Amino acid sequence: VSKLRYSGSISLDGFAAGPDQSPEHPLGVGGRALHTWMKDLDAAQSGSSRLLEEDDTGVGALIMGRNMFGGGPGPWGEDPWQGWWGPNPPFHLPVFVLTHHPRPPLSCEGGTTFTFVTDGLEAARAQAEEAAGGQHVDICGGATVAKQYLAAGLLDEILLHLVPIFLGAGVRLFDDQAFATISLAQVFVVEAPGVTHLKYRVLR
Ligand SMILES: NC(=O)c1ccc[n+]([C@@H]2O[C@H](COP(=O)([O-])OP(=O)(O)OC[C@H]3O[C@@H](n4cnc5c(N)ncnc54)[C@H](OP(=O)(O)O)[C@@H]3O)[C@@H](O)[C@H]2O)c1
Repeated sequence: VSKLRYSGSISLDGFAAGPDQSPEHPLGVGGRALHTWMKDLDAAQSGSSRLLEEDDTGVGALIMGRNMFGGGPGPWGEDPWQGWWGPNPPFHLPVFVLTHHPRPPLSCEGGTTFTFVTDGLEAARAQAEEAAGGQHVDICGGATVAKQYLAAGLLDEILLHLVPIFLGAGVRLFDDQAFATISLAQVFVVEAPGVTHLKYRVLR
């Protein structure tokens, strides 16, 4: 069954990005430390890297927020931002970018296409599900988009990579009062160097 899933790194104090995002600090100040565990994991080729690879299979489309795509706020302008990732982005899938500012789709090398969706969460999910053709749809950031899907009761699974750092400020993942009524079932907990992987199923 096709699921809508979120996975992301989170600091011990609950931030998915540090403060003051900019071209120099795409993850906000200090936010780069949220992802250093990935390098250690690649080096170790540990059981947890196999587990994450397995979890990554069967994904047919992605949803992301406009800040994860990049380019700053407001209308896109004459020479719009092409994304953080250069001509061949690492996604290799149809990607649906939530934004309030329309722009034509963008096709990149390696099979990544970006479709800019201006009519909300449900529309982005419907388009992504259709593109995924029965496979899972993953929300790959940022927190602003992920927490809206959770608050709206649309998320099926959450995979958190809990990193033992404090960011002190930035974009919080779980700061919506709507979450108080949501119940989760723990699917797995995996310990690895510098990170703990926690997977939850959202109960309905
Ligand atoms: N910790 C992790 O694993 C992880 C993973 C990925 C990214 N990140 C980091 O997280 C940060 C980005 O996260 P973020 O929370 O700041 O932003 P985001 O979720 O990527 O994007 C937020 C923007 O998306 C648009 N948007 C959001 N909801 C919308 C809706 N319902 N309808 C239409 N447009 C909507 C708005 O842009 P407009 O109004 O301007 O169009 C909004 O300002 C970056 O620093 C990124 O590097 C962290």
